[in-house]
Amino acid sequence: MLRVGIVVGSTRPGRKAEAVAKWVYDIGKNRSNAELEVIDIQDYNLPLLDEPMPPSLGQPHRNPHTRRWSAKIDSMDAFVFVTPEYNHGPSGALKNAIDFLFHEWNNKSAGFVAYGGAGGVRAVEQLRQVMGEIMIADVRAQVALSLHTDFEHFTTFKPAPHREASVNAMLDQVIAWGEALRPLRSK
Ligand SMILES: Cc1cc2nc3c(=O)[nH]c(=O)nc-3n(C[C@H](O)[C@H](O)[C@H](O)COP(=O)(O)O)c2cc1C
Repeated sequence: MLRVGIVVGSTRPGRKAEAVAKWVYDIGKNRSNAELEVIDIQDYNLPLLDEPMPPSLGQPHRNPHTRRWSAKIDSMDAFVFVTPEYNHGPSGALKNAIDFLFHEWNNKSAGFVAYGGAGGVRAVEQLRQVMGEIMIADVRAQVALSLHTDFEHFTTFKPAPHREASVNAMLDQVIAWGEALRPLRSK
């Protein structure tokens, strides 16, 4: 079964990311072709990157928090990144968590669920550049939630009904590409 990690991309107290990730999980959890899991970067207590060497060099991770984060990401075949938009980019917490690892991300697929005044689309555009470098195949379909219409009073998450279809379209692509890349991962 393809394992899809839904990465909670904000650690801000009062964050919206948690509710959004749970919603994505609930939409996808009964799929017969994939097993979904919410991965909350907050649970891994990652400091600002404190490994001495670039992870692409493939040396053993020095710190216990990195090894724990590595084991979780390594166990996944595909990802959904749930990301806010901070200053037209993704959160520093999410970028930092990505930067800790390299091989654990390679030859996997990913999709995005973003939110912001303009659907978080600028954060996703930046993340797509990062995906190329860590060898993740990022799918076209993406979910762009609006702070104006999907969050009551800009706070409580109440997604418009049609958003569910866009989550499913994104998951279909993430799962298809995650399966297609299996031969590369098994090498
Ligand atoms: C530091 C910071 C910068 C932000 N910059 C943007 C921005 O550039 N565009 C935008 O649409 N929203 C921006 N916002 C609003 C966030 O989209 C909104 O606060 C959202 O709830 C943040 O996600 P989170 O609650 O999961 O942390 C910003 C919020 C913060 C805290």
